[in-house]
Amino acid sequence: MIERYSYQSAFAASEIPHWRIDDIIGGDKRLDFDRPFMPESLARVNQLTFLNDEEKRTLNQIRGHAYLSIFGLVEEFILPFVLDHARPQLQGDDYRVRALLQFASEEAKHIQLFKRFQQEFQDGFGTNCAVIGPPEDIARAILAHDPLGVAITTLHIEWMVQRHYVDSIKDDQELDPQFKSLLKHHWVDEVQHAKLDTLMVQSLAAGRSEAEILGGIEEYLEIGGFLDNGLAQQMEFDLESFELATGRELSDSEKEQFRLSQRQANRWTYLGSGMTHPRVLETLETLTPKARARVESVSPVFS
Ligand SMILES: [Fe+2]
Ligand SMILES: [Fe+2]
Repeated sequence: MIERYSYQSAFAASEIPHWRIDDIIGGDKRLDFDRPFMPESLARVNQLTFLNDEEKRTLNQIRGHAYLSIFGLVEEFILPFVLDHARPQLQGDDYRVRALLQFASEEAKHIQLFKRFQQEFQDGFGTNCAVIGPPEDIARAILAHDPLGVAITTLHIEWMVQRHYVDSIKDDQELDPQFKSLLKHHWVDEVQHAKLDTLMVQSLAAGRSEAEILGGIEEYLEIGGFLDNGLAQQMEFDLESFELATGRELSDSEKEQFRLSQRQANRWTYLGSGMTHPRVLETLETLTPKARARVESVSPVFS
């Protein structure tokens, strides 16, 4: 059991950093399309040496747009999941109720935030970029799984957000300031969510046999496989958007390199960086060391 987190301390911390969407985007706060939006460790566009600097930046921005849409998607399943988790115990610990409702409310705010940035992107980029969806269908498919598998997916996503910001975004001075500000404000809220996810995972695993816990792990991996298929589709959309936006038609061998490199870049961004996060692995280990070992046996594919 990890004793480090409590509903009370997570709730108290979440009361402090409140921010409004209008503080981050709109008015004179516009995206600067002369700057990259994503850190190179996630975008991995420099590997594509057949692209010039401007084309690399365009692809980087397309990946930024996909990031907005994929986070919009995952928040759509996290919101009802957290509400469902709060609902049966409204009469229990007051801090638990308030922390979970605050969590849900912040995810609703994030959905709106990502939409606002997507609109801003579409207004300024000049080419329509296709994205996977619709979000309701993806949310429905994910929520059909064992709640423990869904809770571990949520844990993975929220620690992943922190890894992206702390390891790659915080000290990157090249990024567009508005996009960076979005990622920073999202990260601020997610710090508390990741703690609450840990508590949700532990409460859903409580009373389960080891076999039942490992069943939940398999469901988490199934959700990962489902998302991985979506990422493969998104990568194809990004390739189409790139050709549309730049007017450059890639040769067959360039497309092959694009797919190879961007497939792996997407896998690391949304899957590998979460499933190898030390705090995710630590939580899995508290359920059973076999849970951690099972996830570690597949994670190298997503590096
Ligand atoms: Fe969020
Ligand atoms: Fe969150």
